[in-house]
Amino acid sequence: MDDTKKKKVILDVDTGSDDAVAIMLAAMSKELDILGITVTWGNRPVDNCVENTLRVLELLGREKEIPVYRGCPQPMVRYLTKQRNAALEKDGISIVEDGVEYSVHPAYLNLPKAAARAQPKHACSFLTETLLASEEKVTVIPVGPPTNIGMAFRMEPAIADHIEEVVFMGGAVDMGNITPCAEANFYHDPEAAKIILDSGVPCRIVGLNATHSAELNLDDAKTLKKIGTPAAVFAGELIEVRVDALKRMGNGNGYSDAIHDALAVACVLDPSVITDERLLRCDIDINGGASDGQLVVDRRMGSEPDENVKSRVVMKADKEKFFGMLCERFRGER
Ligand code: BDR
Ligand code: CA
Repeated sequence: MDDTKKKKVILDVDTGSDDAVAIMLAAMSKELDILGITVTWGNRPVDNCVENTLRVLELLGREKEIPVYRGCPQPMVRYLTKQRNAALEKDGISIVEDGVEYSVHPAYLNLPKAAARAQPKHACSFLTETLLASEEKVTVIPVGPPTNIGMAFRMEPAIADHIEEVVFMGGAVDMGNITPCAEANFYHDPEAAKIILDSGVPCRIVGLNATHSAELNLDDAKTLKKIGTPAAVFAGELIEVRVDALKRMGNGNGYSDAIHDALAVACVLDPSVITDERLLRCDIDINGGASDGQLVVDRRMGSEPDENVKSRVVMKADKEKFFGMLCERFRGER
């Protein structure tokens, strides 16, 4: 596809098992022009996430074309007040059995050590410079704690005029995963999420309601592995790793799990994967209590969105369509 017709995107990741699938989906979709991948902390410390991101790009042979930028190693402000983390009993991503760690997000993805390196520029500088210089509006896809993007808004609020849409993986309308109310990405940097939501840029929120409505399972993993390309095989392995780790932790159903971040990319590629989406007033709790970091969605009768409301909340997605997209792209069919 002619580069000028491609949708310009920037991915912001904390790679991460499901981030890895998201990166592969984006990188193997010819209709996207990935201007860069910015990396933050979250699933693991930022340096692990950078290394994991580079490993994934090398698996695809795309490390020379897609620049990677190291970003913020911690949230904007949340750790300044330690007591705000009281609701967080445990991180819930790993368990150690007989000295072996089983994790939904292994410290390092099971791929060869990367030879490539991140760019010398800081992720936030890359974001502000690239967005301000872009004549065409860019879609920004944060699928980790949105620290880098929140910081970029603080550095240069004018980036808002250059953003087509921010498509988050974050938040939950009903039930959180890291605390009873909060989803991990928004919990880890609620101020950053709030800055972006309040900025007035169009936002699409792909939260836990959506991602769990389109879980992938062990049979899907088998199908992917049979496809046989490096991306398909690795995505199949990652589904297995996630399901196994959750089962060992006494969590999940032992058969399927949400591959959260990849669904956010799928929504950018083809919004028809969304089967239920609502334009609603959204806020983030930053008050430090039991619901700290919660996405607060106003669903009351009579609270119909006015023209200032720019948040589209994805509630459900079409699992078969989502899985079909992954198979098609990982086969290299587009
Ligand atoms: C989100 O948190 C991270 O663990 C995942 O990569 C995903 O982005 C799900 O709550
Ligand atoms: Ca993530």
